Amino acid sequence: MVFMPKQLYCGPSSPSICHRRRTDGGDSVGAWFEKEQVFYAHKARVGIRWACDLLKLGEGQKILTPAYNCGSEISPLLNCGASVTLYRVDKEGQLDLEDLHKRYCSQTKAVYVTHYFGFPQPTASIRQFCDERQIPLIEDCALSLFSCDGEAKLGSSGDISIFNFPKTLPVPDGGMVLINNPDLHVDSWKMRGPPIVRVSRNVPPLIKRYVLRMSAGSNLLYPILLYILEHKQSASSSNGAARTALPDMPSNYYYDERLNDRKVSRLTERLLGTFDVATIISRRRTNFIHYLNFLSDLQDVEPLYEELPDGVCPLYFPVIVGNRGKVCQKLNDVSISAVAWWAGYHRGLPWDEYPDACFLKDNLLVLPVHQQLSELHIEFISRKLIDCVRECSA
Ligand SMILES: Cc1ncc(COP(=O)(O)O)c(C=O)c1O
Repeated sequence: MVFMPKQLYCGPSSPSICHRRRTDGGDSVGAWFEKEQVFYAHKARVGIRWACDLLKLGEGQKILTPAYNCGSEISPLLNCGASVTLYRVDKEGQLDLEDLHKRYCSQTKAVYVTHYFGFPQPTASIRQFCDERQIPLIEDCALSLFSCDGEAKLGSSGDISIFNFPKTLPVPDGGMVLINNPDLHVDSWKMRGPPIVRVSRNVPPLIKRYVLRMSAGSNLLYPILLYILEHKQSASSSNGAARTALPDMPSNYYYDERLNDRKVSRLTERLLGTFDVATIISRRRTNFIHYLNFLSDLQDVEPLYEELPDGVCPLYFPVIVGNRGKVCQKLNDVSISAVAWWAGYHRGLPWDEYPDACFLKDNLLVLPVHQQLSELHIEFISRKLIDCVRECSA
C-alpha cells in the first residue's frame, strides 16, 4: 500500500495557468472535429433547439427520446412545439431497442439517442431503424466528448450530433452542433455572443479549483483555503431519502428562449485550442481502470460498467449505491466532486411507466475520473467512498 495523505483535492478539473494555443502539433478540440461541419453554441441545449429548427420539427410531431434523461435536453425539444415519447433505458443504462420499435408511430419524426458517460449505445441498429423509416437521428454526446465506439467517433452517426464542453473540460460555457447529413443546409446561423454575466459567473469556480489544486500539497495552506473557499452549508440531501413526490430538476434546466441565438464565449473558444486531447483520453481511461481495480467485488458499491471497451473516453465512474444522497454529501464535504447524477425529474413526463430510469435517477452516483487526477486520488476517493457507504448504512 502506498502512503495515503489525509487530504487530497479531488474537485472538478481546473484550467492551468500555462494554457497556450497548441503549436507543438499536439491535439486540440478543433483538431478532433477538424473535417466536420461544426457550429459552436453557448450551451448544448441551444444546439438542440437549433437542431429542431434545422430538422423542421414542430407541432403535431413526436420525438422518440430516452427515458433516462437529464431534462435539460428535453426542454429544447418541447420548446420547438413537438412532443416527446420516451423509450425504455434499462438499469445498465442501455437503451431497449424492442421498446423503441414499439413506441414508434406515424407521427414520430425523429429519434434522439444519448450515450451515457462515454459508453456507446448500439448506434448502428438505431441508424438502421431511422433509415428504414426515413426519419433523422439526433445523437446526444453531451456526456461523450472524445469517445469512440471502437474506431468510430461518437457523434458520427447522427444526422445531427450535440456536444457539451464544460462536462469534460474546464471551460466556462459551450456546446457544439455537428452536422453529418449533407442534405441539411445551414443558411444563416444568426449568432451573438453569450450574455456576459452567464459566462463570467462560471469563471470564479474555475479559479477556485485552480487555487485549491495548486495548494493541495501544502499541509498548512490547503486546509485554510479549503475552509474559506469550500465551506458551505450542507445541501439538503433529498436524493437518497425515501421519496413521496419526485423532486423537480433545477429550474435553470428548463429552456430559456433568450439563449436561442447565443454562441460560445470567446474565452471558451480560446481555451478549446489549448487542450491535449490524447492525454485527456488516456488519463481518463487509466483512472477508470484504477476504480475498477479498487471497487470491484464490493457488496455495497456496484459499478454501472464492469469493463472499459476500446475507444471509450469515460466522463465519470458511475456506481449504484444505497443512501446515495447522504453518501454524495459526505464525499462533497471532503471536496470529492461526486454527483448524485440527474436526481431531478423533468415535470410533465410519465415517469411511472419507466421504473428503470427512475432507479438510475435515484441511485446512481458518479465519481470523478478527470485528467487532473492520478492513481493516488482514485485510491483516496475509493477509500472514502467505502467508508461513507459503511457509515451511511450502519
Ligand atoms: C445528456 C445531456 N444533453 C444535453 C444537456 C444540455 O447541456 P447544456 O447544459 O450545455 O445545455 C445535458 C446537460 O446536462 C445533458 O446531460
